[in-house]
Amino acid sequence: MNNSSLSIVILAAGKGTRMKSSIPKVLHRICGREMLYYSIKESLKLSDDVCVILGFEQERIAVKMREYFGDKIRFLSQDLANFPGTGGALRSYTPKYEKILVLNGDMPLVQAEELEKFITHSSEIIVSVLDVPNTNGYGRVVIQEGAVQGIVEEKDANPEILALSTLNAGVYCFDRKILESYVSVLNNHNAQKEYYLTDIIALARKDSVHIAPLFVEMTNFKGVNDKLDLARAEEILGDRIKESWLKKGVLMRLPNTIYIEEGVEFVGECIIENGVSICGDSKIIESHIKAQSVIESSIVEKSDVGPLAHLRPQSIIKNTHIGNFVEVKKSQLDGVKVGHLSYLGDSEVGSGTNIGAGFITCNYDGKGKHQTIIGKNVFIGSDSQAVAPVVIEDNCLIGAGSTIRQNIKKGELFATIGKEIIKEGFFYKFFDKKP
Ligand code: UD1
Ligand code: MG
Repeated sequence: MNNSSLSIVILAAGKGTRMKSSIPKVLHRICGREMLYYSIKESLKLSDDVCVILGFEQERIAVKMREYFGDKIRFLSQDLANFPGTGGALRSYTPKYEKILVLNGDMPLVQAEELEKFITHSSEIIVSVLDVPNTNGYGRVVIQEGAVQGIVEEKDANPEILALSTLNAGVYCFDRKILESYVSVLNNHNAQKEYYLTDIIALARKDSVHIAPLFVEMTNFKGVNDKLDLARAEEILGDRIKESWLKKGVLMRLPNTIYIEEGVEFVGECIIENGVSICGDSKIIESHIKAQSVIESSIVEKSDVGPLAHLRPQSIIKNTHIGNFVEVKKSQLDGVKVGHLSYLGDSEVGSGTNIGAGFITCNYDGKGKHQTIIGKNVFIGSDSQAVAPVVIEDNCLIGAGSTIRQNIKKGELFATIGKEIIKEGFFYKFFDKKP
């Protein structure tokens, strides 16, 4: 799909005051990835000249985006002090090609197929328009006889303009000459004292430039300005992610209750029950994840997990049964049964091993984390603890209620037997009752 004669510029220099957060707006996450990640990903499908305009917290944003895209994108700094606003953002931008697509960085739902429609149009300027009555937060697009006459920001609009249902979605396609000649003449004579990119429209209109509206849908072009928008956008993107996996053959029970992030991958036949969250870069291979379980950046292969289990990052689970109320962190389990109420952290457990209810690894000593290595065919009795670092070799038996503080050699039985007390009839004496 890559269109080698298109430049794309993404505006991401604003603070995003309406988010009421110390995190810059475009770094807020939806379905596990930062908002800006999505528009860059889609832009790279169409162009080899993608530039992101940064300002507020620019280092932080650039570092994060480089993690995903390396040097496939370039960054440009906006002079926010002297030229604030979406028009100021483009003051020192120079595109590589003749056609330029401008995107707001707060539109995480845009898809390349939708953006491509802007390039196939022949007008010198194309403006994206949503037709949604009674919606706040957007600039109003004035359209007469099929041509765009101007865009009026909400804060500058009179009641008549405010009543228009044609809204500026925030994507524009410009011919290079047009963009270059008008960006430099924008002024900040408006309610917000900012340089509005949208003012280009009225200026160009005066010079008889034809400006075409391109009608688009909210599901692809929704802008995110506050946390309500963020939550709504996440619902839309989340549905998109689930629909795509459902079509590829993943079985989901009550998908509306399931949360799956962008980086998750499924392989083969998988069953995901209601209330499950699968996050980060998790990979689920031919497995059954039961109700209300949470999986974070882990690999699960040919296993069943839950209900109500929690796999924390860097867990690798193969051929294993994990039951309810089991938490696993940074551990490798292959061919293991952990049926109930356990915590396995920083551990390795070998095949044929059965972990009794209530076993935990004491992996943290108050200063650092330590490893627990459990071999093959080990039977661990209920309510036991392994105080790490500790190694339990193959074919061992651990008695119920044991505290393991030393390494256990192959084939050994280990059991903690405390002094036992029996006092006949104690209950009746204690409560002064008759037997
Ligand atoms: C903008 C449009 C509005 C449109 C809406 C669609 C303008 C003046 N208004 O309003 O007509 O309906 O988007 O969502 O363009 N940014 C910069 N530098 C700045 C200010 C903002 O790069 O100085 C970036 C922001 O980081 C953001 C994008 O531009 O990604 C849009 O800014 P925002 O403040 O959200 O504009 P809106 O008020 O939504
Ligand atoms: Mg916005």
